[in-house]
Amino acid sequence: MRYLLPLLLSFLFFSCGNDTPPPPAMPPLSDLPLIPLPVEISNSEGYLYVNPAKSFANEGADAGAMAYLKSKKVPALPLTTSMDTNLQLMDGAYLLQIAPEGVNISAKDQAGLLNGAITLEQVVAFSPNTERGLFLSAGTITDQPRYAYRGYMLDVARTFFGVDTVKQVIDRISTYKINHLHLHLSDDQGWRIEIKSWPGLAQIGGMFEVDGTRGGYYTQEDYKEIVRYAAVQGITIVPEIDMPGHTNAALNAYAELNLDGKARDPYVGTDVGFSTLDANKEVTYEFIDAVVGEIAAITPGPYFHIGGDESAVTPHDDYVKLIRRAQKIVISHGKKSIGWDEVALAGLDEGSVAQLWASAEYALKAKEGGNQVLFSPATRTYLDMQYDSLSPLGLHWAAYIEVDSAYLWDPKTMVDGITDADILGIEAPLWGETIRSIEDIDYLTFPRLLALAEVAWTPQPQRNYEDFLRRLRAQQDWLKEKGIGTYDTRVLK
Ligand code: ACM
Repeated sequence: MRYLLPLLLSFLFFSCGNDTPPPPAMPPLSDLPLIPLPVEISNSEGYLYVNPAKSFANEGADAGAMAYLKSKKVPALPLTTSMDTNLQLMDGAYLLQIAPEGVNISAKDQAGLLNGAITLEQVVAFSPNTERGLFLSAGTITDQPRYAYRGYMLDVARTFFGVDTVKQVIDRISTYKINHLHLHLSDDQGWRIEIKSWPGLAQIGGMFEVDGTRGGYYTQEDYKEIVRYAAVQGITIVPEIDMPGHTNAALNAYAELNLDGKARDPYVGTDVGFSTLDANKEVTYEFIDAVVGEIAAITPGPYFHIGGDESAVTPHDDYVKLIRRAQKIVISHGKKSIGWDEVALAGLDEGSVAQLWASAEYALKAKEGGNQVLFSPATRTYLDMQYDSLSPLGLHWAAYIEVDSAYLWDPKTMVDGITDADILGIEAPLWGETIRSIEDIDYLTFPRLLALAEVAWTPQPQRNYEDFLRRLRAQQDWLKEKGIGTYDTRVLK
């Protein structure tokens, strides 16, 4: 009885709803396998216990942060937020505090609150969640992005992926603080967005995809739905209409866009560099103006991508003329122009961006002209490159890219003369030649995207490959639990 009484009392005590049961074994906040690694994590005494039977009003908490957490099914917890636009912080920076009383996120802007919510999503995922409830170790995370633009590109032109698949991609990439989704909406093999004033572009140009299978396109309502869905997760859509090359689908739909006035046949192969718009016909610019105008009108983000790559059959002077006019059209519709690195040859307008994929020389030319560079070196960031010679999907014309190769580089030392101030950010493109499904997308995206997300977010001196692998192991297990089929990288074996 001497022993039984305290036992009975403690049983009554806990079963009567004590709010803070003793915690299970739990790692300090700084040991959680967060990717990308935050700038600073400090631990404090104690922990937050979240009783699953309780509901939390979270009155006054930021609606955007709340919507993000709901979209990721993060359990309800006591959350407050504060936004102070006078804070001396970088855009997107945040402070996440976990205390026994609850969680607070503070930031100077909406992006910061959302980044804090994303970190909280990961903190919750890697903290003990028992039948008694959720336990979060107390501490403070102080964090900010290295680069403003952290992107992922999906080629929906060679293989068309419908709205539901794009939403699945958004759900996956936002967890790693990717904040731009670039949609490659047109290429030789397909045109993937409704243009009301040129309906044949989607209806005829969208019919097929690579290998001759049935294609498809987004109606403008579909596109708006993608934009809206992405925005909840802090992601800005960047639409790309590639020109003057990579245009066979448009040249198939409208005879008048061709140099000889004759419509081209559909193209379902994987060659590049054989198609071109006619830089010397006014109808070409009417077409560009209509397309850019309609898409810009339903794109709240600041960017419009004009492609500009691999225009091998466009004479140089015609290329320069067309790219210069296309940039002006983009600007006239209130957007900033992005183009693959070759566009630097045409001379860039103020605020235009060159996307480095192959040529350091063109990237440097853009910088010398006062323009920022978006880094997507094919040898490091192209997610359609195979991991190694045994990868069943992907290509290898640029490189084989294992996780170590995706992680172990520093953008600011890649091109002599280009420093962090010249770099808008990092983007990881996934080209569509060999992918047909979300499973294929997952295989090539994960886990490499996690390496690239950390390159884009975490300050270089804090990046440590061994520590990244420790965190990647846990992240890879989490991805698998969620049914996301990541490649079992050899670097973790
Ligand atoms: C590209 O890979 N052609 C940009």
